[in-house]
Amino acid sequence: MATQKHQHDPIEELKRRSTEAEAGGGAERRERQHAEGKLSARERIDLLLDEGTFEELDKFVKHQCTDFGMAEQRPSGDGFVSGFGRIDGRSVYVFAQDFTVFGGSLSESNAEKITKIMKLAMSNGAPVIGLNDSGGARIQEGVRSLAGYADIFLLNTLASGVIPQISAVMGPCAGGAVYSPAITDFIFMTEKASYMFVTGPDVIKTVTHEDVTKQELGGAMTHNAKSGVAHFMAHDDKECLAMIRELLTFLPSNNLDDPPRRGTEDPASRAELSLNSIVPEDPMVPYDIKDVIHAVVDDKYFFEVHEHFATNLVVGFARLDGRPVGIVANQPAFLAGVLDINASVKGARFVRFCDAFNIPLITFEDVPGFLPGTQQEWGGIIKHGAKLLFAFAEATVPKITVITRKAYGGAYCVMSSKHIRTDINFAWPTAEIAVMGPEGAVNIVHKRELERAPESERERLRAEKTAEFRERYANPYVAAERGYVDAIITPAETRAKLIAALNSLQNKRDTNPRKKHGNIPL
Ligand code: HXC
Repeated sequence: MATQKHQHDPIEELKRRSTEAEAGGGAERRERQHAEGKLSARERIDLLLDEGTFEELDKFVKHQCTDFGMAEQRPSGDGFVSGFGRIDGRSVYVFAQDFTVFGGSLSESNAEKITKIMKLAMSNGAPVIGLNDSGGARIQEGVRSLAGYADIFLLNTLASGVIPQISAVMGPCAGGAVYSPAITDFIFMTEKASYMFVTGPDVIKTVTHEDVTKQELGGAMTHNAKSGVAHFMAHDDKECLAMIRELLTFLPSNNLDDPPRRGTEDPASRAELSLNSIVPEDPMVPYDIKDVIHAVVDDKYFFEVHEHFATNLVVGFARLDGRPVGIVANQPAFLAGVLDINASVKGARFVRFCDAFNIPLITFEDVPGFLPGTQQEWGGIIKHGAKLLFAFAEATVPKITVITRKAYGGAYCVMSSKHIRTDINFAWPTAEIAVMGPEGAVNIVHKRELERAPESERERLRAEKTAEFRERYANPYVAAERGYVDAIITPAETRAKLIAALNSLQNKRDTNPRKKHGNIPL
């Protein structure tokens, strides 16, 4: 008798179920997604990860909701794709919301998918990347969905400072859902397709009678330039995913690792003669600090963070002799490089990220002080400026400062001065280190003398006193006499000096007193 062929082929069954799960919300909804300029969740993950490395988990998870006719609609995967893979050969964990299934909304089941991924990422010391494109809490699941969000927020908080957490907002992200990306280290947004807000235009219209579009309220440019909520803006999904890959090349996988070193052909001893004349003779004339950064770092390559926000302070990543460093630099080309509320907050967050993840800090300083005015004082420049001071002071990673020109007043102390545990402080010969600029100082110190002088003489006297003050105090030598500046270097040799200093700090070990946590002035 011939053997009867199995009716049920388990391999075929798996294939069929897999294909069904991968179809998400179906071809029509996927088409709609494409028409809006967005990729599907799976297309995004494929572009993000090294080819063929994605291993999906929880593909067959279904929601458990039976209300609102949901029992009849239980697609496998439930609108989230999650798992692990590799970027540049290094392990990462990833989840992507699939807008084609219930608008990518968060159910109890897919909150469990995310928390599972996050726990794996934490216990294995690998970054977690979330690709957001969602209508928010699954309306049909009510409080169970809210509970799912809260579970994610808790893990975001616990993972903070342990593994890098990266969020890309590639579609809607509204209501309380914004708070998961907000806790993560970096937020990417795509132009046109993405928006984030706590309350949308309709609610705003009802409550405050303001008319505002989604894009104006919470689009990519709004959050990159106005609110500072987002750190990066990409033209589209493809560019966004490539930028995330690029960012990761500077980051360690977790807080116990060092950032990955990369070989470079750029000689450590490269002198950059253009720097010798980059600071204008007139101290009131600006120059672009990014020219200095580019001239100094490996291959002149600087990966800027928060490019569009608080442009009077520049932050970002670069490499020196192959080693990733975090750069913080006053930008004299905008608002003369003053520190204001936004710049302080921007700098503080970046410094704390670098410190948490063992990335040495290089500070380029040219700061005339804090921005004066009622708007700043009433807005809390005292507490916000203190954030940057606190962040630099508590940082125990290698810290090196180069004063290129102005280092005045409190801003001198704040910008990684010797006094707050900076390891090596360099100054260019053009540095001016003093309590305040010569003009302001003369107006105060010589006030009576100026008042007494005949009016016809006053301006000449003021100019004379200002020149005297500049000669005596507005230079790096007074600070160097006290050892507050370790060396005065010619600008052209800055790269070589920084690399030598960085090498000398390679095994730096420094700690803060034991405590539960500090109380940074929030
Ligand atoms: C269930 C949802 C959903 C949601 C969208 N969908 N949002 N299903 N729960 N929250 C479904 C729609 O029914 C639709 O299903 C599909 O997703 C696509 O939605 P559309 O409205 O057709 O898409 P679009 O026109 O692009 O509009 C997208 C949208 C809109 C702006 C996101 O769907 C919307 O306003 N959704 C509700 C947003 C919201 O208020 N969420 C709660 C936020 S509060 P079909 O089957 O027709 O394709 C929140 C709290 C978090 O999230 C709390 C944390 C503490």
